[in-house]
Amino acid sequence: MLEFLTQSVKHFRHTGSIWPSSPLLARAMTKSLEDISGVRRILEVGPGTGPLTKGVLRRLRAGDQFDIVEINEVFCKLLEKEMLKKYRARHPHVSVRLHNAPIEDAALATGYDLIVCGLPFNNFPPKLVRSIFRQLLALLSDTGELVYFEYAGVRVMKAPIAGTAGRAHLKRIDAIGKSLRRNHAGSTELILGNFPPALTIRLKREGAEKSRGSRGKSARAK
Ligand SMILES: C[S@@+](CC[C@H](N)C(=O)[O-])C[C@H]1O[C@@H](n2cnc3c(N)ncnc32)[C@H](O)[C@@H]1O
Repeated sequence: MLEFLTQSVKHFRHTGSIWPSSPLLARAMTKSLEDISGVRRILEVGPGTGPLTKGVLRRLRAGDQFDIVEINEVFCKLLEKEMLKKYRARHPHVSVRLHNAPIEDAALATGYDLIVCGLPFNNFPPKLVRSIFRQLLALLSDTGELVYFEYAGVRVMKAPIAGTAGRAHLKRIDAIGKSLRRNHAGSTELILGNFPPALTIRLKREGAEKSRGSRGKSARAK
């Protein structure tokens, strides 16, 4: 908790919050793993101190592959020491790999069944937001799901204190989210048991094709 706060102060643009996610939010973000049969491939982006990582680890079984990508070296060292080393020793038949890199540069193979993303998109330039979503959606398997979260009403609350440029920025991030939900069969869930309350957003890689039926134009994050 203290390390999260320290890193948040040092790197607020990357960290985007001062409080790690709650177990309830972790449960909501990872529950769809239970519906996937056979061996699963999972990617987590931006684990921080690992509250969502813990939720994934709890649900893994022999043969699963779990990749984790985190930009901050301090968080990586902490995760490795406090969580991953012990987990690997107890679960030799599960592959858990931690990549200390920005997701934009991570070398990953496609075909993930679930991507859990904790990135603070409101703090990123819109161009970067679009390109990260394009990258993550392309990393999913055909039936895969991308889950991310944001604090409920965060853009509405920030707008009055954001200034003109800040408000324009928040509007563009909001528009990207709306377009993604429209084009990728987006669904949301409000999680009150988090500080602050959060919205999970689930996107399907092939959502556009399914929801458009026979009109079936291919769609990606625009
Ligand atoms: C809002 S924190 C979320 C932490 C944790 N998942 C949680 O829910 O409490 C965002 C995390 O994303 C990481 N991050 C930011 N930009 C990143 C990038 N481009 N690639 C990988 N990780 C990044 C930050 O270092 C931080 O750990």
